[in-house]
Amino acid sequence: MAQEDHFKKVLSHAKEYGYIFGSSEIYEGLSAVYDYGQNGAELKKNIREYWWKSMVQMHENIVGLDAAIFMHPTTWKASGHVDAFNDPLIDNKDSKKRYRADVLIEDYAEKLNQKAQKEIDKAKKRFGDKFNEEEFVTTNERVIRYREEQNRVLKRMARSLEAEDLADVKALIEELEIADPDTGSKNWTDVRQFNLMFGTKLGASADTATDLYLRPETAQGIFVNFLNVQKTGRMKIPFGIAQTGKAFRNEIVARQFIFRMREFEQMEMQFFVRPGEELKWYEHWKETRLKWHLSLGLGEENYRFHDHEKLAHYANAAADIEFNFPFGFKELEGIHSRTDFDLKAHEKFSGKKLQFFDPELNESYVPYVVETSIGLDRMFLAVFSKALEEEELENGSTRTVLKLPAILAPVKAAILPLVKKDGLPEVAERIINELKWDFNVVYDEKDAVGRRYRRQDAAGTPFCITVDHDTLEDDTVTIRDRDTMEQKRVKIAELSGILHQKVDFKHWYKD
Ligand code: GAP
Repeated sequence: MAQEDHFKKVLSHAKEYGYIFGSSEIYEGLSAVYDYGQNGAELKKNIREYWWKSMVQMHENIVGLDAAIFMHPTTWKASGHVDAFNDPLIDNKDSKKRYRADVLIEDYAEKLNQKAQKEIDKAKKRFGDKFNEEEFVTTNERVIRYREEQNRVLKRMARSLEAEDLADVKALIEELEIADPDTGSKNWTDVRQFNLMFGTKLGASADTATDLYLRPETAQGIFVNFLNVQKTGRMKIPFGIAQTGKAFRNEIVARQFIFRMREFEQMEMQFFVRPGEELKWYEHWKETRLKWHLSLGLGEENYRFHDHEKLAHYANAAADIEFNFPFGFKELEGIHSRTDFDLKAHEKFSGKKLQFFDPELNESYVPYVVETSIGLDRMFLAVFSKALEEEELENGSTRTVLKLPAILAPVKAAILPLVKKDGLPEVAERIINELKWDFNVVYDEKDAVGRRYRRQDAAGTPFCITVDHDTLEDDTVTIRDRDTMEQKRVKIAELSGILHQKVDFKHWYKD
């Protein structure tokens, strides 16, 4: 299926199966704001839990935090967001559409990368087993040309943005003859900076109200609580503070479903280290986070690192883990070496010391920070879009199946009585009453059992447990695996153990 068609299918499937709805749809919705339905809320919760357990529960030196969304307005002055949390925007004068100038240029560079990849794939096919990719990419003229041009473009953009030379960003767009992706027009305005924070007010009357911002990242709640947690938890460096929660950004170019939203959720961890050790820990967290992604089994080929050319105002190294979304490789998670920028800035603006006394070194210092930051909604889209398949079966028919990792699936098992009589529904109820203490399970008795299997396949339920007439004789049921469609006969008493083995955190994370 073409990428574009697959993406359309993802959108409609997410709605049809109760995963995601447009916000306030009955009033025609609100752009780039979404609600999670009965299955979506479960999937989101399970992703959050998988992240939290792997970060907090599995690390003795990482603890959690739940800071408020509202923060003192000086927080955002200190963090640099008031002055520098901007996107460079450009308008097309003909279509009146607004774009992020850096995204237009990055998309252009990605096309060059795709052209180079096409040459590599062609050669791979031609030479088969004899193909030496390393030699090919360093000697093939076309691949070298595409890659050099890609580097040149990205480097020049990084330089211009770093120097705030917006005129050069526009000049680059014009030199590359980048057109409006929707209309093909090349009639552009100048590039302007636009601050992404949402403002709001705290207080009853207009005269006395304080101007506040909705937090654009959860990280600052961690920085301002650094000393509270360190002292009350008697934490020793290196240690981390993890947090999940909502963040808000007035994204002007909010497209691609839940990839770029105005209200979204982040899962962030700030790891506090000795000055000078940050780059070692940065490499450690890059590797650890990639392993976390790979543990979900969505395919190694769907991830890649993108090291940043243009660094944010607070970082001395940064990389994205990019995922192969239905619209190509895009950022899923950021790993940033944030130096001591944030703690030092909060020291300066608050007048309070935010330092750690290191007993081994016998000195106090402002710790350096390595951050891992992933969007929960973006992770949801990665998992959901990769899981959705139209599968050709041996008998020539197709089935729609949502192969969600079992640990993340909203419902772990559906219990199906073969028929609605002869005491089978009662046995199914008994099984549910036992399993529901540990697992989210559902009961389904409507339609022929084959149709019920298909329904559960499409909803993402990894196991179907069928109660039939033999069950009444020998206390056994069939358990059907969503992905292989294999059915096994097992004792009812074994069901709980089997499900634990398939969906427990230990099984997924340890293996
Ligand atoms: N504290 C660092 C920080 O916020 P970021 O790269 O701006 O860094 C981190 O955001 C992650 O948050 C991104 O990798 C992405 O997964 C997610 N994210 C950012 N903006 C988003 C948006 N508008 N909608 C959904 N997710 C977003």
